Parts: sequence; structure tokens; C-alpha cells
Amino acid sequence: MASKHPFLQYLTLVLTLLLRGVFAADPPAPFEVKWASESFGFDGPWNAVKTTIGDYYYSSNLSLFPGAFWETWVISDEQCNQNSPDGCYASKAGLYDEDTSAKEGSGSDLEIRLESSLDIYQQGLEVVGEDPKRWTDSLSLGDSAEEDPVIYNVSLNLLTTQKMQYPGGQTYPLSAGCFSLGAPNVNHSFTMNDGSPSINASIVSGNLWEKGRTPSNSFGMHVGSASPRDMSGSLWFGGYDGNRVAGPVLSVDGTFRDGFSLDDISIEVVNGSSPFDFESQDGLLSEGNSTIIGSLGVQIDGCSPYLTLPKSTCDNIARHLPVNFDEDLGLYLWDIKSPSYKDIVSSASVLAFSFTTDSNAVSIKINVPFRHLNLTLTSPLVDDPTPYFPCYVGGHGTYVLGRAFLQDAFLGANWGLERPRTFLAQAPGPNIQALPRRIAIAEDTDRLEDGKNDWKASWEGMWDYSGNGGGNKIDPEPAPPNDEGLSTGAKAGIGVGASVGALAIFGALIWLCLRRRKNRSVQSEADPAVSQIPSDGKPPENRFTLQSEYTTQSGLSPRGEYASEMPTREANDVSTRHELGDTRRDEAMELA
Ligand SMILES: *[C@@H]1O[C@H](CO)[C@@H](O)[C@H](O)[C@H]1NC(C)=O
Ligand SMILES: *[C@@H]1O[C@H](CO)[C@@H](O)[C@H](O)[C@H]1NC(C)=O
Ligand SMILES: *[C@@H]1O[C@H](CO)[C@@H](O)[C@H](O)[C@H]1NC(C)=O
Repeated sequence: MASKHPFLQYLTLVLTLLLRGVFAADPPAPFEVKWASESFGFDGPWNAVKTTIGDYYYSSNLSLFPGAFWETWVISDEQCNQNSPDGCYASKAGLYDEDTSAKEGSGSDLEIRLESSLDIYQQGLEVVGEDPKRWTDSLSLGDSAEEDPVIYNVSLNLLTTQKMQYPGGQTYPLSAGCFSLGAPNVNHSFTMNDGSPSINASIVSGNLWEKGRTPSNSFGMHVGSASPRDMSGSLWFGGYDGNRVAGPVLSVDGTFRDGFSLDDISIEVVNGSSPFDFESQDGLLSEGNSTIIGSLGVQIDGCSPYLTLPKSTCDNIARHLPVNFDEDLGLYLWDIKSPSYKDIVSSASVLAFSFTTDSNAVSIKINVPFRHLNLTLTSPLVDDPTPYFPCYVGGHGTYVLGRAFLQDAFLGANWGLERPRTFLAQAPGPNIQALPRRIAIAEDTDRLEDGKNDWKASWEGMWDYSGNGGGNKIDPEPAPPNDEGLSTGAKAGIGVGASVGALAIFGALIWLCLRRRKNRSVQSEADPAVSQIPSDGKPPENRFTLQSEYTTQSGLSPRGEYASEMPTREANDVSTRHELGDTRRDEAMELA
């Protein structure tokens, strides 16, 4: 500004240069993915992340449910090009146009001519039809291929004319694709059958880390919920939002597709009077089914909508609820005329899922309030909007906790360890701090700290304690959990002020340190007072977090090696190789 005093200008310049110097040496920070403002699905509503697929000239905006393993699944315009009497339901979330795109410069096709299989798509609800097409294209994390970070040659599977199939045999079109949360490798490498050079496709999580944009090949997610109150999702690569964890975190070897041991399911009243004739009822998982001994292996899959469980388990739960089983859909419809329907779905009661660790040392319970289990079926599944309870008895024999469960669970993984680790915890309800508490996952992180959010407080104002549902009140402006008695706005202001001040001081300190120990790696200790950095939409390279230890890019530790087996039922002859940075590994991944 022309009116500025020369000294101020000078000071600004010095500060800018100083900060720039600091940021250049800055370790990578966790990267936050953007979410669509709308919700999607014929059985939700469900939150989805925003992506743009395609290059600068031919790109499509697609909202995708986050939850896939290895490749990202996108619905192509072929779903709608066949003049189907179903109408074009998937267009709401966006369709991929496979004809307009050609690999820039090379003019070559984006298709990878290797077989793929629907068996590796959503695990909790059958999808039928032709094999999906393996594909690569660029993907930006956001709604602009110009402004948001772009990852090139991303491993995709195109869904063309496939349909969802329910137990009655009826089929319906798809609603939205599914975004990959990563894989225990950086790349998806395909060996061609015809001897042509192998193709390397990128996986977003691995690519962000490999390019030095995140501290590790990892993610942390809470998908939030769209109803009865909108609570936006949270998905970070290389870290997570600590506010999305309420209580201890279960940490297990393997991936979310390898399975967790589900010990039990119970119905519990957590506050107020009970809308049931009990305060808690456990044993619902295995009651009346002698083949379920101890626990049941379940996958967690954000691509699938329901709680896909044995019929005996769903029936055990349903026995306590005013629901009617719909045989064709394999789902339970709420009996909205029953007086206890409203009581239950507005009460402070939950369906609780108990899990144990591999070491059996820790067990956790994830509470899914009945408030979140009053979901809605819409066209084309039913003619008129119909409230339903999401226990599902179809699928292909795999038991799966899908998006209905993920409304209330924090899920994360560190893919880069020798054996990948998966993290599972209770996620809070709608009342949480306005600013994310960004926590980095370091390359060697194999467990996460307990979440400090009070789960009950996070649901305050959302329950009806009377047990007679009559009120069905939702407090329009519930107080945030008051740790320091400050309003969210005041805290945000203080957070920003403190961050800016701390940033300047810290910047100067780092700069001094850097000058002294030039080639050594920067490590910073956690300081909760300055860890609340606002989500300000700035590109990640301009942010830094003080939450965890970092090593600089030059000091990357050796990457973990891990051979994975994909969960498929049929063998197919796709030979997939994983490439780990410079060390090429030629072992074929087993798809059997
Ligand atoms: C994408 O793949 C093509 C060929 O398969 C290659 O020529 C190009 O360099 C790749 N782009 C990036 C950014 O890796
Ligand atoms: C009992 O559980 C097994 C899984 O352990 C399942 O295959 C079977 O269908 C269940 N029985 C009923 C009646 O749901
Ligand atoms: C249950 O869901 C329906 C929509 O399917 C909605 O109209 C109703 O208000 C919900 N009930 C409660 C108590 O939230």
C-alpha cells in the first residue's frame, strides 16, 4: 500500500522473507479433503467428498462416498446413456464422461485393458452386471481442476451399466461412486498380458505422501451425518481431526477390509427414561445362532450403505423395535404408526457395537444413536419416502458395517507401516468445536491418542429424555461442550489470534534454529495451545502443525513392505504389482 510508512514496508518484507524461508523448510502437514454441501443416496442421506476427474479441458465434478480400498470407483455416463426407464439417478452426484478424455499429449486411451471385478467394489450390497473398466485419469481434490491439488494417473474403476441387486432379485441404478482411502502401497501397478510396459496408476493417499505433501501414507475420517442435523464429514490424509475422536482408539493390524472382531451388539439407553422395557439389552449378535461363537468378523466399508449382518442378528435387534421386515429389500421398515417409533428414534438410546483388539487388551464400544438409524428410502427403491432401520440381510455373505455405522465411527489407517494399522473409535455427535484440531500421523505411528471429546456432551440438545418422544425437539442452537466456558466464536477468534502470534514467534525461532543446524531435520513438540489452526482453505504447503514430530523430506524412512490379498471371491488373471518408490518389487499380488 502506497500510504504505508517505509519502515512498515521494510518490516513486512523482512517478515515475508522470514516466513517464506520457514515454510520452504516446512515439513508436510496433513491434508484436508473437501466435502460436498449436498447429500446423496436412495437410502441415506449420506455425505460425500468433492472431486474433479479429468484434465483441465474435460473434467467432471463428482461427489463420491469415501470408503474404497485401492481404486476409486466412478460412475460413467453410460449409466444414463441407455435410455433406461429408471431415469438418471446417478447424475445428481456427477457422471464421468469416458469419451471426451484422452491422455494429454499422448492421445492414448485411458483404459487399462486388464480385467477388473465387481467383487472388489462395495462389500455389503450386491452390484451386478458387466465387469467394471480399469481406467486412469487425473483427479483433483475439490471442485476445480485448476485450483485444487491434482493427482495424475489415478487408479480408477468405471461403473457403466451395473445395478444394485436386492434379495427379491429386483435391480436399481447406482447413486454415487466411491473414493479410495488408500492401500498398503504407494502405486497400483499393472503388468500387461501382452508384454507391453507395465502401467503405474496413482493412489491418492500414497501419492500425496510420495510427493511430500503429507507426513505419511495414512488417513483419518469421520463421514458425519446429514440427518437429523447436518454434521459435515471430515477426511484428512497424513493425519486427522482430533475433535472427531471421542474416547479410546482401537488399533489393529490389517486393513478395514480385512475385518474387525465384532463381539456383541446391544441396545442401550444412555440418558433419560427408556422407550424400551429395559435399560440395556445385550447378546443381540449371537442370540439364537449357535454358529456365532465369541465374535463375528466384519468389514468396515464406506462404499456400502447398511449394517449387513446375519438374519438372526437383525431379527434379534428388530424384535425390540417397531419395524416390519421387507423381504424383497432385505431391510426393516419403521412402523411409523406405532407410538414407540417416535419415542425410540428421538430418545437418548443407541445401538452399541463392541469390539476387542487383536491382543484382547482393550475393548471399545461404538454407539450409533437411534437418531441416526431413522434413515430414509427414496425413489427408485420405493415410491414414496419411507423411514427404515438399516439392518440388511442380503449381500454376498460378507458381514459389513457401512455408512449407517460410519455416521458415528472414526476410521483411520497408517498404510505405510510394515503391516498396515487400522484405527477405529467412537466419533462425536453434532456438537463439536468449530475448528479442526489437526493431528499428524507420522510414518511410524501405530496407535492414536485417546480422543478428549465427551461423547455425551456432543449429543446434548439432540435427545428427547422424556421417553415419550412427544417433544421431538431439536434444540436449534445447542451450546458447544464448554471446556473453558467460551463461545465457539470467541474461541475461534482467540485461536486465530494465538495462531498468528505463535506463528510469527515460532517462525522466527525455527529460522534461527535452521541457520544453526542447517542439514538437520526439524522436530517440533506438541503444544496444544497453538495446535488449533483454522481451516482457512489455504493450500497445505502454507500451513504447519505443531502437533507431532516430523522429519524432513530428505530424511524419509524406508517404506514398509506389505503384500496384500484383495478380498475377492473369484480368481481372475489380473496381475497387479506394487511399486514402492525406487525399490521395484515384482511379486504378483494374489487376487484369489
Ligand atoms: C501418466 O501416465 C502416462 C503414460 O501412462 C505418462 O506418460 C505420464 O508421464 C504420467 N503422468 C504423470 C504425471 O506421472
Ligand atoms: C447364523 O450365523 C451364521 C454366521 O455365523 C450365518 O451364516 C447364518 O445365516 C446365521 N443364521 C441365521 C438364521 O441367520
Ligand atoms: C425420521 O425420518 C423421517 C424421514 O424419513 C422424518 O420425516 C422424521 O422427522 C424422522 N423422525 C425423527 C423423530 O427424527
